[in-house]
Amino acid sequence: MAEVSLRNVCKSFGKVQAVKNLTLSCKDREFLALLGPSGCGKTTTLRMIVGLEVSSKGAIYIGDRLVNHLEPQQRDVAMVFETYGLYPHFTVYENMAYPLKIRKVSSEERQKRVRRIARILRIDDVLNRMPRQLSGGQKQRVGLGRALVREPAVTLMDEPISHLDAKLRHEMRGELKRIHRELGNTTIYVTHDQLEAVALADRIAVMRLGELQQLGHPDEIYSQPVNEFVAAFVGAPPINFIDCQVKSDKGRLFLRHDDFIKIPLADQQQERLSKLSLQTNEVRLGIRPQDIDISSHEDRSHCVQASIYITELFGDRLVVTAKIREVRFKIEMSPDLTVRIDQPIWLNFDKSKFHFFDPRTGLRII
Ligand SMILES: Nc1ncnc2c1ncn2[C@@H]1O[C@H](COP(=O)(O)OP(=O)(O)OP(=O)(O)O)[C@@H](O)[C@H]1O
Ligand SMILES: [Mg+2]
Repeated sequence: MAEVSLRNVCKSFGKVQAVKNLTLSCKDREFLALLGPSGCGKTTTLRMIVGLEVSSKGAIYIGDRLVNHLEPQQRDVAMVFETYGLYPHFTVYENMAYPLKIRKVSSEERQKRVRRIARILRIDDVLNRMPRQLSGGQKQRVGLGRALVREPAVTLMDEPISHLDAKLRHEMRGELKRIHRELGNTTIYVTHDQLEAVALADRIAVMRLGELQQLGHPDEIYSQPVNEFVAAFVGAPPINFIDCQVKSDKGRLFLRHDDFIKIPLADQQQERLSKLSLQTNEVRLGIRPQDIDISSHEDRSHCVQASIYITELFGDRLVVTAKIREVRFKIEMSPDLTVRIDQPIWLNFDKSKFHFFDPRTGLRII
């Protein structure tokens, strides 16, 4: 088993800078998700680690070995692609055993390893079938199995379940987590699906335009996003943003949007904001849909008046869009709540969950 470290790694394709100065490490036995939108450099990063692409600059270590100039087969890294690429004329067993055969592993050892991984992946009952006789999920597991039988130090997965249907994807997500727990191999998993990253990973590296934005535990990424991009990319429904001015009334700070929304602040935030000596008093407030509560009447805590604009039911949760003039807030509610369009409501924001960003740079202030 091994740690994977990238130090100041860059990759350009002509004028396109696909990966910019990337420094990150995936610890021994860790499950790290590389998360980001299409084109942010996720696949390129994996391809440099496995050795299918040469980095333009920087160093890549696996364990304490510098691997930049090693051939893929010398790196002890297996990569699982989105398209599983099984050999159609081989049985499942032969497909899985193939990487061992070309490495001259004895037939007895091949059998042992294939059976063990097949059992973990729950495909031990289809070892004699041909790929065409398998479901999508089974093919996926055979592809994964073929990488895992090698017992590589590092496994890289590039959106391995993104094209499965929702039910299978859900099932495979659970399987992947269990497999990682059983085999304990260092895993870097690429996805653009934040739910997948949060569900699976020990830590998440969020990328944008070839650059690392934040590396942290899923909770940390969710509750302390370093900038607006990370705040908006992780969490569903997405976080609400509202531009505000920090104002003072009789020594107490509060937030004001235009002349019609006034949001009180917690004591601790007042203190921290006043210490910041902001260059302007403009801030962008981020507040997640889960951190707003609604009431049908006004009281001390529910003091921002709005009306219901849209309601959307997603099975176990109701997402309400509340409207205050042109400002909209998405709010996640329990589906038992009965609300009707245009009904007047009052909002209570959980002040302890406020995120403050600098509207000029998008960076987190507090
Ligand atoms: N061989 C190549 N030649 C030229 N440009 C490339 C090549 N491979 C990737 N790129 C460019 O590098 C950038 C990063 O691509 P990459 O495939 O790493 O993105 P990604 O994050 O995996 O995206 P997706 O989620 O769509 O798979 C993109 O702008 C892409 O067009
Ligand atoms: Mg990709």
